[in-house]
This record gives sequence, C-alpha cells and structure tokens, in this order.
Amino acid sequence: MRAFAPGRVTVVGEHVDYAGGVVVCMAVHLGVTVDAQPCSAPRQLPSPLPGATLQALRERGLDVPQLDLDIAATLPYAAGLSSSAALCGATAVAALRLLGARLDAADLAELMLHAERDIAGVPCGPLDQRAVVHAPRDGALVLDCRDGGREAVPWLPGYVLAACHTGDTHDVGGEGYRTRRGQAAAALHALGAASYRDLDLATLDHRAARLDPVLLRRARHIVSETGRALDCAAALRDGDAARVGRLMHDSHASLRDDYAVSTPALDAVVEAAEASDGCLGARLCGAGFGGTAVALVAESHADACLAAMRAALPGGGDAGEHTRGAWVLRPSPGLALLAPDVVA
Ligand code: GLA
Repeated sequence: MRAFAPGRVTVVGEHVDYAGGVVVCMAVHLGVTVDAQPCSAPRQLPSPLPGATLQALRERGLDVPQLDLDIAATLPYAAGLSSSAALCGATAVAALRLLGARLDAADLAELMLHAERDIAGVPCGPLDQRAVVHAPRDGALVLDCRDGGREAVPWLPGYVLAACHTGDTHDVGGEGYRTRRGQAAAALHALGAASYRDLDLATLDHRAARLDPVLLRRARHIVSETGRALDCAAALRDGDAARVGRLMHDSHASLRDDYAVSTPALDAVVEAAEASDGCLGARLCGAGFGGTAVALVAESHADACLAAMRAALPGGGDAGEHTRGAWVLRPSPGLALLAPDVVA
C-alpha cells in the first residue's frame, strides 16, 4: 500500500510551538511517499522514524505486521520543511491502508508526535505533525499550541512562497534546538509565569534588569513571535500581502537577533530575496541552524526571486546543487484531505 504525506512551510511563528504559542503554516506539494508491504524480513532503514510510527500504531492496539517500507522523497531531508513529520505521516497512512483501519485526524497528529518525540526521542514540538495532517487545500493553517485550536485562513491570491535550501542541514535532535528549548523553559521559570501567553513585551521590559540577558532575548522572541503570528493570521484574513511580508521580515530579525538560530547563509539568502523585485519579506523556515529560507513574492516575480536567492548562496548557488534546491510553494492539502479513506 502506498501513501504520500506533504511537508510544511511556516509563514510566521517559529520556535513557539513548544512554548504554547501560535503558528501560521501551510502544507506544500513536496513530500514523502512510502510503499508498505508485509514481509518476514524488513530491510534496514536509515531513519528510526518509520519503525517508531509502526510501534505507535501497535501501542494503540492495531495489529501491524512486519512491513517492508520503500521510501521516496521529493522533500529534502533536514531542510526545515518537515521531512520527519512527512515520513511518519506517510508510514502511518500506508500501514492504516494495509490494515483497513481508520484514525481520527487529531489522533493521527498526536500519534505522529508520540512516535517522533517519545519513541524516537527527538525533542520536537507539535507544529509539524499538525500542519502535515490538518492543512487546508488552498489556504494557510493557524495553530494555537496552547489550546490545540486550529483555523484555516485564506492564502494571498497572486502570491507564492519562494523557498531556497542553503544546503546546510539542520538537526532538531541536535544541540542548538535542545539548548533553545531549555532556555525557553528556564526564561519562563525565571519570569515566574505559567505560560508565555500570560506575558507581554512591556512586562519583559519591566523585568529586564533582573533577568539573564540571553534568557531575556529568548523570551522576547517567543512573546513577540506569537504576536506576529496572530497579526499574520489577521493580515491573511484581510488579504493584506504587504503586512504579511513585513511580519515575515520582522520574524527573521527576531530569530536572528533574539533567538540566534540563523546562519550567515540564511541571512544572505533572506537579504537577497528582500532586495529583489516583487518580494514583500523573507525569513528562515523551520528550526534554523541551516535549512531553507522562504520569501513572500508576487507569482510573476517568483523565478527571478529564486534566482537572486540562489545567487546569494556561498559558491553562487552552483556548489552542492543536489542538496540545495529551490521551489515555488503554494498551499497544499494535508493528510486529512489527501487520505479520507483512513483519516476521519
Ligand atoms: C522544528 C520542530 C518544530 C518547531 C520548529 C521551529 O520543525 O520539529 O516542532 O519547533 O522546528 O518552529
């Protein structure tokens, strides 16, 4: 049985999902396809995620046999476009199809998160799995990670996201991501708050003198980024492309200066995009420390914008061509729409 799951792109709202924040994201046409066949001796896979997903299905009482999994991806690995959640999602849907079983969409997203975070031990938040499952067909998805809320909002007619992979892979299991999660928790504790959603920038300013300066910057990113994501959702409802672009620009500045997860290559690609005609704003996408930059650009200018982004890469966009890649991204449906036979 075969299944495809998409990756996702974040519009605004990075590094807030594990801090109860708000994210605006969408699924993309790039993704992972898994072909699952029952067998007695499955091939060894380079990733623990498919096995973790099958284990999560078994934990729910499903009688999943030994499966041989054939994996093909149009989504680059560790590029900030959610290849991991796509791999878990495609594995789960292929297995459900073989079993003739169904899962509720929210349950599927939780199962994928359980597989990646609790079984495979990757310290990720819930963003990627929810985006991959719940993304609407033609719009963006607003996720409230405090209460699990979801809302589909329209996309901007005539605009696309130009995405350029720097060729540097990031690693959500790596030191940088774990450290940021630890700092986010430590800052909240030092501020004596139960949730970042109870804090605003004025309160942070007021307490600045008593907080470690690094923790203050981390907290400022989390609080300001959720504010930008809420603004971005409103701007999408209003069809205000210029405002979405400004918020993407500000999001990148905050990720670079306050959260310190950008790289010189990401900064260069973002600057080149923003200097090109028709681009309204650009930012790094995903966890950072490498990966992909995305730019909001008029569809008619997307190819020129991508060319400018590639030209800004160290080596002028020629070196590492096979790992880099550049794509025009539009909203695409998530698994609840792609696999109605098994996702309720
Ligand atoms: C990775 C994680 C997500 C999220 C983003 C940053 O994609 O898997 O949970 O934290 O980074 O926004």
